[in-house]
Order: sequence, then C-alpha cells, then structure tokens
Amino acid sequence: MNETEIFQQIGEKGITDMCAAFYRKVPNDDILGPMYPKDDMGGAEVRLRDFLLFRIGADTTYLETRGHPKLRMRHAPFEINFRARDRWVKLMDEAMEESNIPAETAKALHTFFYQVADFLRNVREPEMEDRFKI
Ligand code: HEM
Repeated sequence: MNETEIFQQIGEKGITDMCAAFYRKVPNDDILGPMYPKDDMGGAEVRLRDFLLFRIGADTTYLETRGHPKLRMRHAPFEINFRARDRWVKLMDEAMEESNIPAETAKALHTFFYQVADFLRNVREPEMEDRFKI
C-alpha cells in the first residue's frame, strides 16, 4: 500500500482519531509518559497529526508551522532505546485498533512507524544489538 491508498482508506479523520487515541495513552505510560510535555499534550498531538497529514496526505500545514521535520534532530533530547521504540509502536498499534483503522492499512502503517521509530533510536545498546545478529 502506498501513501495515496492509505490516505484514501482512512482520510484526515482516521489520522486525527489515531493521534488522539495515541496521546490519551502516553501520559499513563511508564516509559513514554515522562518524556512528553505534560502541559502541552494537546500541542504534541497536533504536531504528530500534522506531520502524518503531511507525510501521508501531502498536507503542507506541518511544513508551514514547524518547517522541515528533521525528526532525528527533534528527538535528540530524548533517550530512545529499543524499549522506547517498541513501546511507541505498541501504543500506536493499540491506537489504530481503537480508531478502527482497517487491518490492511494498520499493517502498512505499522511497518512505516516501526521503521521511523527504529531510525530514531539514539543510544547504543550492544547487549541488545547482539540479539539481532544473525
Ligand atoms: C521511537 C520512539 C519515540 C519516542 C520516544 C518519541 C518521543 C517524542 C517526544 C517526547 C516528542 C516531543 C513531543 C512534542 O512536544 O511534540 C516527540 C515529537 C514528535 N515525534 Fe516522536 N517519538 C518516537 C517516535 C516517533 C515516530 C515513529 C514518529 C513518526 C512516525 C514521531 C514523530 C514525531 C513528531 C512529528 C514530533 C513533533 C516534532 C516537532 O514538530 O517538534 N515520533 N516525539
């Protein structure tokens, strides 16, 4: 599935709903909760939503309000290890399910989220990396 097909399936509403569901979970999460700004969860939700509308729906609001995404740079202040990566993707999987994202679309988005989350890892964990050696 490509971006256009995904956007046709879920539209702006699907993206908005899944971001809202995701950010309802974040504050209660033991790993992610402490990383996010408690007094600006609404703002964080809008930033993720606008980014996804840009990335999947080619909407330019994110670029106009935030500029180039530079996601690795913007995530540099947070310690993103394997556990944080997996927890982010898990909460988003749950959020997609709760927002009734169709299974095929959720699967395609899961692959995208996992790839971005892995790319955002910014701490070395050699003992964990060993597990992935073939
Ligand atoms: C790997 C685990 C991840 C962690 C621990 C994490 C954590 C965070 C935190 C703490 C923020 C700051 C919240 C705010 O004030 O906006 C943030 C922002 C953001 N994250 Fe993540 N994130 C992760 C993965 C992802 C993924 C997979 C994506 C995209 C698919 C993403 C997209 C964004 C965007 C667009 C912003 C707002 C950037 C801005 O415009 O300032 N993040 N993230």
